[in-house]
Amino acid sequence: MNIILIGFRGTGKTTIGKILAQRLDKGFIDADEYLEQKQGKTIKDIFAEGGEKLFREIEAGIIEELCLLDDRIIATGGGAILREENVRSLRKNGIIIFLDADVNTLYKRIRKDAQTQQKRPNLTNRGAYEEIEYLLAYRRPLYDRVADFVINTAQMPKNDAANKIIAFIHCHVMDLKCQ
Ligand code: S3P
Repeated sequence: MNIILIGFRGTGKTTIGKILAQRLDKGFIDADEYLEQKQGKTIKDIFAEGGEKLFREIEAGIIEELCLLDDRIIATGGGAILREENVRSLRKNGIIIFLDADVNTLYKRIRKDAQTQQKRPNLTNRGAYEEIEYLLAYRRPLYDRVADFVINTAQMPKNDAANKIIAFIHCHVMDLKCQ
């Protein structure tokens, strides 16, 4: 069984994923990084070449491939849940954890992240704040719908978030009564 982290840009998927991998002694894969390595191009280059459409095609292939693995922690790109085929693959052998946060927190985190310029092409013609607001309003119900467990990372230290996820997984996998 894989542990799959979903959620918007800046919710902490990669950081928390690495903590989980270390604590649970499992391999960690960042789907975007894997995609870039395999393509030999950055996500920004792929967007420049063929737009979001091309990126989503490539992303779907990567997700299908990663979901054939087992016992991994997988951080997905923020839009991975947009395609039903991806959701089906992710569900097949994965516990899905939705990392959520409010628009203000995400805006601040994304602005502070030095990788944003290279790694995060614009997804709309809106300003940075409005883009998050708009996309999150659309996507949050989708993240919610596919999640086995939701955790708000806005006010929570990363290690606490990891602890909560581990507690959930122990209950879920061992089917214990943990309430
Ligand atoms: C995207 C998020 C990015 C990356 C791509 C598209 C999105 O991943 O997959 O730029 O649609 O929200 P992160 O969530 O890791 O930034």
